Amino acid sequence: MDETGGRRVLVAGATGYVGKFVVREFKARGYWVRALTRSEERLRARGPFTAPAIGVDDVDEVFVGELTKPATLAGVMDGIDIVFSSVGISRQRDRLTFEQVDHQCNKTLIDLATAADVQLFEYVSLQGASDAALADLAITRAHEAVVAELRASGLEHRIIRPCGYFSDMGALLTMARRGRVFLVGDGSNRMSPIHGRDLATICVDAVERSSVEVVAGGPEVMTQREAAELAFAVVGKRVKITVVSMRVARGLVRVLRRLSKQIGDLAEFIVVAGEVDGVGPPLGTTTLRTYFERLAAGDPDA
Ligand SMILES: NC(=O)c1ccc[n+]([C@@H]2O[C@H](COP(=O)([O-])OP(=O)(O)OC[C@H]3O[C@@H](n4cnc5c(N)ncnc54)[C@H](OP(=O)(O)O)[C@@H]3O)[C@@H](O)[C@H]2O)c1
Repeated sequence: MDETGGRRVLVAGATGYVGKFVVREFKARGYWVRALTRSEERLRARGPFTAPAIGVDDVDEVFVGELTKPATLAGVMDGIDIVFSSVGISRQRDRLTFEQVDHQCNKTLIDLATAADVQLFEYVSLQGASDAALADLAITRAHEAVVAELRASGLEHRIIRPCGYFSDMGALLTMARRGRVFLVGDGSNRMSPIHGRDLATICVDAVERSSVEVVAGGPEVMTQREAAELAFAVVGKRVKITVVSMRVARGLVRVLRRLSKQIGDLAEFIVVAGEVDGVGPPLGTTTLRTYFERLAAGDPDA
């Protein structure tokens, strides 16, 4: 038997930025992989910011089901040893809340995994959840409710706490290409963003090691403003940054919340993330410059 122990993995969140890299990483390391998705078409297509398409050789089985409809999940845990989940809301427009998706969908998975006697459950939360500025946000409360349930479940588990993703940094490059970057706050907060591919390596490593919690940052610490300046340098344009003040941003959050609680909660997270530091141990290896240069050159595997 190889180092995977012949184990079989269920990846939930497999259509997402992190999930696509994770499916490929487990499979490349020799695990048997089942991807849970509500859309095989989205799984097979490339995702935004160079998240890979999942080809026939990248996965052993695709299970189409909806975590919000437990009746569609019969058999999803059959033969599974490890569950990985990066299910959560980032850009979805389903009108569902963080509580309904980030918490309840993952609770459904934990309950199914417990009933099926799964060996290990790995969950992607976020770095800085105990930071006073973040702790009370709807997204953080939902993630940490999952963490609490995992701890209480008796399941062996791993909690991955990543810093910001390169998928969000890609948005800076898109804005720089158009000639102007908008930053919430003055951009002086420090961060160590990480590539999804590096994070996938860390997630699979964590399954094979014993640390229960892993905080994961990229290789460099920079301010948001420095990241924006780097994006302009890579696309060869003059730096033009417009700062949206915290006062204006918070006013906007209040307006958005009146229209939709979910959009208000998401906007609040983006605003707060614009003023707190998000730095973790430098576990990732891909630099932001490398990523930006590959993106700018049109490399689909940037
Ligand atoms: N962005 C960051 O900087 C950052 C940093 C730290 C932690 N995180 C956390 O990392 C996790 C993964 O992020 P990501 O960028 O990979 O997110 P993503 O690309 O939006 O992927 C999220 C996954 O969750 C699934 N999902 C969402 N709503 C669902 C629903 N109602 N029912 C079933 N599945 C649903 C999506 O499936 P569909 O494709 O079917 O919608 C997708 O597979 C999130 O929980 C996020 O909070 C993000």
